[in-house]
Amino acid sequence: MADTRVVPGLAGKTAVVTGGMSGIGRACVELLQASGATVHVADRDGSPSVDVTDRASLDALAARVGPTLDVLVNAAGILPPNTTIDGITKEDARRAYEVNVLGTLQACQVFGDRLKAAQGAIVNIASQAALVSLPAQGAYTATKGAVAALTRSIAIDWAEFGVRANSVCPGFTITAMTEPFLENEVFVTAAKRRAPLNRLLDASEVAGAIVFLASPLASGVTGVTLPVDAGWTAGEPALPW
Ligand SMILES: NC(=O)c1ccc[n+]([C@@H]2O[C@H](COP(=O)([O-])OP(=O)(O)OC[C@H]3O[C@@H](n4cnc5c(N)ncnc54)[C@H](O)[C@@H]3O)[C@@H](O)[C@H]2O)c1
Repeated sequence: MADTRVVPGLAGKTAVVTGGMSGIGRACVELLQASGATVHVADRDGSPSVDVTDRASLDALAARVGPTLDVLVNAAGILPPNTTIDGITKEDARRAYEVNVLGTLQACQVFGDRLKAAQGAIVNIASQAALVSLPAQGAYTATKGAVAALTRSIAIDWAEFGVRANSVCPGFTITAMTEPFLENEVFVTAAKRRAPLNRLLDASEVAGAIVFLASPLASGVTGVTLPVDAGWTAGEPALPW
């Protein structure tokens, strides 16, 4: 069902959403569009295909976007195979870093001048794994910690141009990325129990926080790392007392 919520201050604005064909990125596209923004999707599964690790395809997208850009959401990301630290291959770790960290950095660089011209806003999607570790996901966890740290650096370096940069840390959200985990009932029960709100998240709930940070409602907010995780990183919910 299309998102019918409207976030104020986004009508007539231009946005780019990487990873906008699926899951959290797709939900951002829908909320931005419902709020009156023109949205360009940058996704390897999009048409035309845009790979955030490929400078030429990002440059081609930038040419289509025009001279200014108000909002950049970096939601493109990949999850390497589950393995404990001993089993992480350099290839998997490198590929995850390439997409999750360097892809985010590259999109910010390609659109930097346009964002400065518009005093725009960047929202990068990190993960709860940027704040607390998840088992058997060392390579992914390292990339998401880096996304949160990189976002703070962007916030500092581009503050003088009026560009804001924030990151959002989703908890377990129902998307194509988590589908294999969510088919496992034991996993789902454990994941829900670990979150104080005792549930998984819907992509539209994560998009709500992302689009808020991208909007003028958050005009005083830059450099924050915002968990949207049903309370996962607040603490352990179920100790007896
Ligand atoms: N789903 C969750 O529980 C969860 C939790 C925390 C963080 N995240 C993060 O949220 C973001 C979105 O994840 P999702 O769950 O919506 O996943 P998803 O798999 O549904 O969507 C990811 C999208 O990114 C695109 N993509 C991947 N590599 C790309 C590349 N090189 N260039 C361009 N596009 C590329 C894919 O085609 C896909 O459309 C990711 O950064 C992910 O790490 C997700």
